Amino acid sequence: LLIAATNAHAADSCLAIIGTGNVGSALGTRYSALGHAVVYGTRSPQSGLLRELVRSSGGQASAATPGEAAGRCDTVFFAVPWEAAEASLRSLGKLDGKLLIDVTNPLKVQGGREIALPVTNSAAELVQQWAPGARVVKALNTVNFAVMADPALAGGPVSVPLSSDDVAAKAEVAALVRALGLEPIDVGPLRTARYTENMALLYVSQLVGGRPGFEFHLRPRSSPPR
Ligand SMILES: NC(=O)c1ccc[n+]([C@@H]2O[C@H](COP(=O)([O-])OP(=O)(O)OC[C@H]3O[C@@H](n4cnc5c(N)ncnc54)[C@H](OP(=O)(O)O)[C@@H]3O)[C@@H](O)[C@H]2O)c1
Repeated sequence: LLIAATNAHAADSCLAIIGTGNVGSALGTRYSALGHAVVYGTRSPQSGLLRELVRSSGGQASAATPGEAAGRCDTVFFAVPWEAAEASLRSLGKLDGKLLIDVTNPLKVQGGREIALPVTNSAAELVQQWAPGARVVKALNTVNFAVMADPALAGGPVSVPLSSDDVAAKAEVAALVRALGLEPIDVGPLRTARYTENMALLYVSQLVGGRPGFEFHLRPRSSPPR
């Protein structure tokens, strides 16, 4: 009964997911299975790949253009390559009042190496500048898509730092993160994304460097530092 009630609540909640690559498809599939009405925002809603993603997501998943998807839902996940981020975000139309969850990282992998892309302060703060009316929360950018899809792969708890100037928005994202089986941790205002975006660079450097790698697990303090 409890599960049915939880899903009934989730079903009311429409999630737009902009970008249907590794991250977008992992998040869409999980949230769809949890009962959310997922709308994939994609440049090719009619493609065979998208039809298959919508079909395999089951539930009430659908595909639309990025602008339509963002228009339909009050919560929007943003998961496109950083180099496409500004144009993609501006194509979404007005996002005033919407919860905008920025999963991007200003990096690319080229020639087997991670490359930090130049940003003023942080990607998240630029996203907020480009969508000034949105309630921007940086989240999930330090987690690999495979772990988003199946947290058990991590072999232990995984922390998800949340950065936002909007405390209520952060609480909403914390609930969405917990629903995936991950541990949200409030690390402060949006500007702290400057540091979590660099955590992501470190994470990717291990992957592409052929090192065993790690997952981030931050242990909250039980008392303030002396
Ligand atoms: N990979 C990870 O494990 C991971 C983890 C955390 C954060 N991130 C960050 O999340 C974002 C997405 O990562 P990803 O691995 O999902 O990337 P990806 O597999 O390359 O997918 C990105 C998606 O963005 C959409 N897109 C919109 N404009 C685009 C353009 N000009 N060129 C290419 N794609 C465009 C595409 O979806 P449509 O074709 O449907 O429009 C594409 O499938 C990146 O900023 C990345 O740094 C990645």
